[in-house]
Amino acid sequence: MTEQATSKRRSTFNELTVSEVRSLTPDSIEVTFAVPAELAEAYNYVPGQYVALRKDIEVHGETKELRRSYSICAAPTVHEDGTGEVRVAIKRDLGGLFSNWANDHLKAGDVIDVMSPTGSFVSKHEMTSLNNPEGLAEDVLAKDEDMFVAVAAGSGITPIMSITRTLLEKNSSARVDLVYANKSATDVMFLEEIADLKDRYPSRFAVHHVLSREQRISPLLTGRIDEEKIQTLLGSVIRTDLVDEWFLCGPFELVQLVRDTLTEKDVPEEKVRFELFTTGPSAGRVEGQRGRAVEDTDGPSFQIDFNLDGLQGTVKSPKSARETILNAALRARPDVPFACAGGVCGTCRAKLVEGDVDMEENYALEKDEIERGYVLTCQSRPTTDKVLVDYDQ
Ligand SMILES: Cc1cc2nc3c(=O)[nH]c(=O)nc-3n(C[C@H](O)[C@H](O)[C@H](O)COP(=O)(O)OP(=O)(O)OC[C@H]3O[C@@H](n4cnc5c(N)ncnc54)[C@H](O)[C@@H]3O)c2cc1C
Ligand code: FES
Repeated sequence: MTEQATSKRRSTFNELTVSEVRSLTPDSIEVTFAVPAELAEAYNYVPGQYVALRKDIEVHGETKELRRSYSICAAPTVHEDGTGEVRVAIKRDLGGLFSNWANDHLKAGDVIDVMSPTGSFVSKHEMTSLNNPEGLAEDVLAKDEDMFVAVAAGSGITPIMSITRTLLEKNSSARVDLVYANKSATDVMFLEEIADLKDRYPSRFAVHHVLSREQRISPLLTGRIDEEKIQTLLGSVIRTDLVDEWFLCGPFELVQLVRDTLTEKDVPEEKVRFELFTTGPSAGRVEGQRGRAVEDTDGPSFQIDFNLDGLQGTVKSPKSARETILNAALRARPDVPFACAGGVCGTCRAKLVEGDVDMEENYALEKDEIERGYVLTCQSRPTTDKVLVDYDQ
């Protein structure tokens, strides 16, 4: 299942009904979508994956199709009747279009386009059993303790909730330390659920709330997580050398700081998983640019060929426009997959079969995927007259 879910299951949008909207904090909600039995397989997911939501929303009198990604925050659930559910948590982003619309308007009974789950922010540790529950070797199960550490900030807790819950539930030798940074206690999403996990697994789950605008008893847990604090946390509270796998999710600066610190401490890269929600204000801005460049048959053009769902598409892209493969391909096929358009989610991944491209940002593809020729089409511009990319591989 996991190979299919985490590698190349083509994500598709389906209409799902909101079954519940629950307030988590003054500026965040948890939204549950009901998954009918016939779609249960398509919406099966590995903890840590996300869905994209698509909605036409009126912005300054103009209707825009918005797509935003949201990590699934619950452990996978299939009910006795074969139906399932997908839960996401949406935090208001100051001035943000979709998150504020959702917090203000989304309610039970609404129907919205939800893309089937995708993403590679999932455990790659063979002992977690998350990736291969049936394949666990006896000697692996016999190990005393598997150590996992999650570092999250703000809404970055959502995939961590799904991963942590499943790890503790499914793997009785798992120990999870969660470092969770917020401004103040009222901003802490899933506060009760985190406390419940602590009650249920007192010896296997530890949480370290770090609050930047509130005084806590320990100075270590007060203030912003900066280099000094993370050095101390990783030196005293957490023994980095004993950790089997790391999960980092939050703003770019925090994730980068922790990654750099782990590298300094000789933690191998393959033990560190990270997910970024945004890299800056330009991420997610595709709705303004989509399909804008027009084919200019007189001037020089790139020829962009692409395979999608077994069909080949071709589009010409004026060299002067410097547009991405995604933007050009969307002119020919509106169902070309994308979500963030900012190089963070990986939905637009395709294999470069012919030609060459220049990929601007990449926060989604792993080293081995790049080596195998995968590119993010939302970030890639042709550098040869002809390129062929394959979304099906
Ligand atoms: C894989 C993944 C998983 C995610 N999971 C979650 C999750 O679980 N929960 C969650 O809450 N979020 C999550 N996100 C983030 C989410 O997808 C959205 O990016 C977020 O909700 C903001 O969307 P928005 O439409 O409200 O903001 P947008 O309208 O996209 O704006 C984003 C920010 O940019 C600013 N901005 C907008 N336009 C401009 C401009 N022209 N110039 C300068 N600044 C501008 C806005 O003020 C705002 O602060 C995830 C993202 C990814 C990629
Ligand atoms: S659409 Fe998210 S990385 Fe390209």
